[in-house]
Amino acid sequence: MELKILLVEPNESVGDLIYQNLMREFGAKVTNLKSAHQAIELLNKAEYFDLIVVRNNSLETVDQPVEQIAALILNTIYDKSLKTPLIVIGEFEHTFKKYAMVSDRLRIEELNRLVLKALNLKKEDFIHMKLPDYVPFPIKYFYLMTISPCDVYIRLVKKSGDDYVKRLHFGESFTKDDLHKYEDLGLTDFFILKEERELFMNGLLTQSLKNLRAPHTIDEAVVMTGDSFVISSDLIKSLGISTTCVAMVEQTVQQIRTQIIKSDKLGGLLKKLMDDQLSYSYRRSYLICLMSYTLLPKMEWGSQDQQISIMEKISMVSFFHDIYLEDEKLLKIMDLESLKKAQLNSRERDAVMNHANKAALLAQTYPRLPQGVDLIIKQHHGVSNGVGFPDVLTSSISPMAIFFIVVEDFVTCILDHNDLDNFVNILKYLKQKYQLPSYRKIVAEIESVIIKK
Ligand SMILES: [Fe+2]
Ligand SMILES: [Fe+2]
Repeated sequence: MELKILLVEPNESVGDLIYQNLMREFGAKVTNLKSAHQAIELLNKAEYFDLIVVRNNSLETVDQPVEQIAALILNTIYDKSLKTPLIVIGEFEHTFKKYAMVSDRLRIEELNRLVLKALNLKKEDFIHMKLPDYVPFPIKYFYLMTISPCDVYIRLVKKSGDDYVKRLHFGESFTKDDLHKYEDLGLTDFFILKEERELFMNGLLTQSLKNLRAPHTIDEAVVMTGDSFVISSDLIKSLGISTTCVAMVEQTVQQIRTQIIKSDKLGGLLKKLMDDQLSYSYRRSYLICLMSYTLLPKMEWGSQDQQISIMEKISMVSFFHDIYLEDEKLLKIMDLESLKKAQLNSRERDAVMNHANKAALLAQTYPRLPQGVDLIIKQHHGVSNGVGFPDVLTSSISPMAIFFIVVEDFVTCILDHNDLDNFVNILKYLKQKYQLPSYRKIVAEIESVIIKK
């Protein structure tokens, strides 16, 4: 039996998230619509659904006024005497009480529980149907491994049906260069038998952690930490926060701090981070940590112990804050002006507008998150609700968010110019942009640190 679910979610990226989740968890065929009217049209055509999931009040957008989506749908269900269960996301009141509600601050697990309940099904019913026989994993997940934890296949797409060919045997060793050879052929994914998925995930975790911890030159360590930065943020986004990725995030963030503390010459580290073979997001996050480490003693934010704990916070913020942006183009949009110039399509725009808030919500589900990290993530573009960019900067956000904003802008300039000698112009730009005293102070400290060099 294939479940048919109608999803009405005006926000494209949230819709996408729920859509992917319903497909993955329940093997459901999901019709994802943005407006109530489209949905009602389908229901009027007598199209059958096992379940309807709607977001209530739509976000106000240019081409769509705020409307009670749930009420429109529920009225249609009532008028047509349909038996279809309804789940409403967000606040909702209606006299016809046949619906379940899930909070606006959507937790996917909560939604999944309601879906099972609404359909009178058990979790076990789906464990087997949701995965195909071969599960794809990005080749980059193998970067920190050296021994194949299970049999690994590549897919040959054929008209008569896909073929899977075994390329790595269980226990076989390989190098990163071997992996690059597959990627040079245009492959992005390896495939694993669904029964061996656990085996693979365990291997991924234990080998990656072990290899990360093994002694390396600083240059090697920076590259490896870059791989684990990319892998662990990818894992979080595709699987949610699980034991596997928590251990990897922790190790990644800790590696960055240790490398910074251990390297006595910042110049060497800085040069390595100019290497554009490494992911942009990683390089910038790393540079934010590096700069923060240099600046913190000057900030008079407490004893050395307190500085260590602030450094821990900043490295976590650095890891999470832009996790939902991948494209370098989007990562570089840091104010209203550059947002306007960028000419984004609606999906990209939505991603940029909401990335800070979404990342803060994600971080809140992370176990033992240092206090205040989610707030700084939310405010890392200067707005207190984490949506969009401010018209003018204000000092009414957390001092550490202000610190983060200026430091990130500075390191973004460094990466942009790809030239470590351009400090004079960068400082001129920063001074011009940040006139409020609380921001200005950070610029002054940055100046004092780099002029000394
Ligand atoms: Fe950022
Ligand atoms: Fe950001």
